Amino acid sequence: MITILAIESSCDETAAAICSDGRILSNIIAGQKVHEKYGGVVPELASRAHMQNIVPVVDTALQNAKVKIQNIDAVAFTQSPGLIGALLVGSQFAKSLALALDKPLIAVHHMQAHVLANLIDDPKPNFPFLCLTVSGGHTQIVFCESPTKMKVIGETIDDAAGEAFDKSAKLLGLPYPGGPLIDKYAAQGDPHRFSFPEPQVPNLNFSFSGLKTSILYFLQNAGQSHVYKEEFLADEASQKKFIEENMNDLCACIQNRIVTILLNKLKKAVLETGIKDVCIAGGVSANSSLREAFEEAGKKYHWNTFIPKFEYCTDNAAMIAITGYYKFLEKDFADLSVTASARANW
Ligand code: KG4
Ligand code: ZN
Repeated sequence: MITILAIESSCDETAAAICSDGRILSNIIAGQKVHEKYGGVVPELASRAHMQNIVPVVDTALQNAKVKIQNIDAVAFTQSPGLIGALLVGSQFAKSLALALDKPLIAVHHMQAHVLANLIDDPKPNFPFLCLTVSGGHTQIVFCESPTKMKVIGETIDDAAGEAFDKSAKLLGLPYPGGPLIDKYAAQGDPHRFSFPEPQVPNLNFSFSGLKTSILYFLQNAGQSHVYKEEFLADEASQKKFIEENMNDLCACIQNRIVTILLNKLKKAVLETGIKDVCIAGGVSANSSLREAFEEAGKKYHWNTFIPKFEYCTDNAAMIAITGYYKFLEKDFADLSVTASARANW
């Protein structure tokens, strides 16, 4: 039996998980409320919170899994990409633990792990499969040949899908992270009441920054125009009133546009590759409208669709553990000189 202890600390979640032969025994996440009032993650505060959380989170993961620390076979950790200070906390902790226990160390790529969250539960996709990975920092279509062989075939040229959700939410005066709130308000709204433009981006790439600008102008003109004006059509009070009175519909329309941008590219990727096993992953795959539209597309175009369990969509260590397990099988170990890196190539 191969038992992996995994640590994730790339952004604002301190997480640890235990997996045994690919089965998740525990999955612990400590979120960080401290960022809410700043409207986004403050890197320095994230690093400090990771420092406070990491020991209790790892302890709880071991206890819940009923695994003794001496009995783990390897320590896996998120090496990249992410906030460097946050990554350093997890990586230094993992390296020290591996050294103290004299166990192998496994460096994991966070985006690869999001994809492999689809291999945690049954039914699992068959290789090769496609995965639309949508998070706060990334938007990618990934071609997966095996658990350790993947290629990005499309990605955003500016903002990520999660950023599009969060920045739009900020324009509506909602706190960070706004994605889940847009999801919530959109459930009561009419997704066809206002229309926002779909960007024309070549190949399988995405763009979301134009959408954000269009929403900004639309709100500044209190819904009367999408166009930039020297003098906006509405004063601040009217803009606020427009948002308040139309919050549900605005959220539904913004969400609808983000979801159609994502799905149109995914359809194109399926057509170009001929691959019918299709997954979604990453924080934005928790979005109810994306999940629904994805399942519908699956039925319509005869795809086999896969979505990780809700808790494996947003940042978590179970996905690091499953990736660690496949790397362990290939004896793909890191040595202690490995360093965390904010950016990473595939
Ligand atoms: O994967 P993740 O937890 O962290 C990163 O690696 O970035 O993704 C976080 C992103 C945030 O932008 C958050 O707003 C978005 O996922 N998100 C959602 C929902 N839940 C999380 N966006 C839309 N609808 C949701 N239900
Ligand atoms: Zn993530």
